[in-house]
Amino acid sequence: MPIDKYSVLHVKITDGEYIKYREIIYETTGIELKENKHNLIESRLMKRLRYYNMSSYSEYYQLVLKDRTELQLMINQVTTNETSFFRENKHFDYLVRRILPEVNEQLRIWSAASSIGVEAYTIAMVVDEVLSIRHLPFEILASDINIDVLSQAKQAVYDIKFSKNIPDNYLRQYCLKGVGDMQNKFAIKDYLKNKLSFAQINLTKPISPNVGKFDIIFLRNVLIYFDIQTKQNVVKHVLQHLKPNGYFFIGHSESLFNISDEVVQVMPTVYQKVVL
Ligand SMILES: C[S@@+](CC[C@H](N)C(=O)[O-])C[C@H]1O[C@@H](n2cnc3c(N)ncnc32)[C@H](O)[C@@H]1O
Repeated sequence: MPIDKYSVLHVKITDGEYIKYREIIYETTGIELKENKHNLIESRLMKRLRYYNMSSYSEYYQLVLKDRTELQLMINQVTTNETSFFRENKHFDYLVRRILPEVNEQLRIWSAASSIGVEAYTIAMVVDEVLSIRHLPFEILASDINIDVLSQAKQAVYDIKFSKNIPDNYLRQYCLKGVGDMQNKFAIKDYLKNKLSFAQINLTKPISPNVGKFDIIFLRNVLIYFDIQTKQNVVKHVLQHLKPNGYFFIGHSESLFNISDEVVQVMPTVYQKVVL
């Protein structure tokens, strides 16, 4: 039943509706919502209800069930995409000091839950600075389940506040400051952008062999959203794409304890694939 905009603002999600959303979100993304996240789901999906002028979360749920495009739009709303350039900077130090000096051929790197792409561009800046001097090529795959953040990653235009963690020399070399209408934005230069490719990959499902193998994989700040079984599955899927002796980075608040024995720790949150 269509209702006026003012009423839509006040639609509340019922306990029964919340349980249904929790289940479908878990099945499709692996994200485990706690029992008390009603407000979060209510506020994130409110936009979609308003868009359709719907009077209940059940009505929207029925649409999500029958329309795959709407299911994707719902997923885009419910993922948490917080990220920043040079986040957990110790990882990039390790890359520069311990990994890149050993490299003597083309490098393939995967940012496996890349959000809006700033993790992948951080890796690109750090790697390019070292490998371009040695004329060694590299490529980076940035993937995510959320197609909105992937399209932002492809555009590579960010609000100026995102630049605060980027060292000046990298800003000068790899970024362009916006002017006029764009003065509050900056862009990644094409030279660096061209090192990246983009794909929608749901890490909870088997990953296509076409994705290929990588020397280094970043899987940071996504395992925290999963239960233990999903963590084990995701790490197993992802590690199938890591070359022997390849490096694996997870977020600083994450752990592989009881998750995988295919890798050994080389420093906290950095692992290397065991060669059998
Ligand atoms: C908090 S962000 C982390 C971004 C970046 N790795 C970092 O550490 O700054 C988590 C990302 O994981 C993505 N994500 C959640 N579930 C996923 C899944 N099943 N498959 C792939 N990506 C997923 C979300 O869309 C989100 O962009």
